[in-house]
Amino acid sequence: MSPIIRAATTDDLPAITAIYNTAGVATTASYDLSPVTVADRAAWLQAKQRRRFPVLVATEMDSHGDQQVVGFASYGPFRDKAGYDFTVEHSVYVSTEHRAMGVGRMLMSALVDHARGQGIHAMVGVLDAGNEASIAFHEKLGFTESGRLHEVGRKFGTWLDVVLMTMTFPDTSPQR
Ligand SMILES: CC(C)(COP(=O)(O)OP(=O)(O)OC[C@H]1O[C@@H](n2cnc3c(N)ncnc32)[C@H](O)[C@@H]1OP(=O)(O)O)[C@@H](O)C(=O)NCCC(=O)NCCS
Repeated sequence: MSPIIRAATTDDLPAITAIYNTAGVATTASYDLSPVTVADRAAWLQAKQRRRFPVLVATEMDSHGDQQVVGFASYGPFRDKAGYDFTVEHSVYVSTEHRAMGVGRMLMSALVDHARGQGIHAMVGVLDAGNEASIAFHEKLGFTESGRLHEVGRKFGTWLDVVLMTMTFPDTSPQR
């Protein structure tokens, strides 16, 4: 596979919504409890674009020769206080049928490049502790576990622990 990575547009929203509902909402990969709509995701994309945060998609040619969205990745504020301005929290979702083909790595590598280009110092993934695939994936990409929070989530009638996976860029030199 040779996916193309590019900025998301409103045309990608139905595919992004479907991937997020299947790979995120239907599982503990996301702590959203209810399926999102295309309109929800449109507001999400607009909010990201307004604050100049990236939303990237990976596309791959389908059997009809058309490019289809097979994954997406984004980041946004880690926490909204100004002291956290150089830290972002990211997320990445790849459609079930297109996993283990390097799509997630390509999306994350583009996201890391974007973050570095913006002078970001740290990226944080907030992962469900039971999401072994995502933890292994982040480790492969060079993220390290920075902590675990016990029973801070609740979904599917059970308490959930989260793992914080971080990557820092030591060469960041902010002006403040
Ligand atoms: C985690 C996820 C994004 C990985 O995407 P992917 O496209 O399958 O990953 P890649 O094929 O690019 O794999 C990159 C590396 O991670 C490793 N990896 C990926 N999935 C893995 C798994 N289930 N177990 C162990 N290692 C895994 C691969 O072996 C690969 O390492 P290599 O390049 O040294 O061989 C994908 O499984 C997914 O969308 N999961 C559901 C959503 C989610 O959990 N997102 C993260 C929370 S924000």
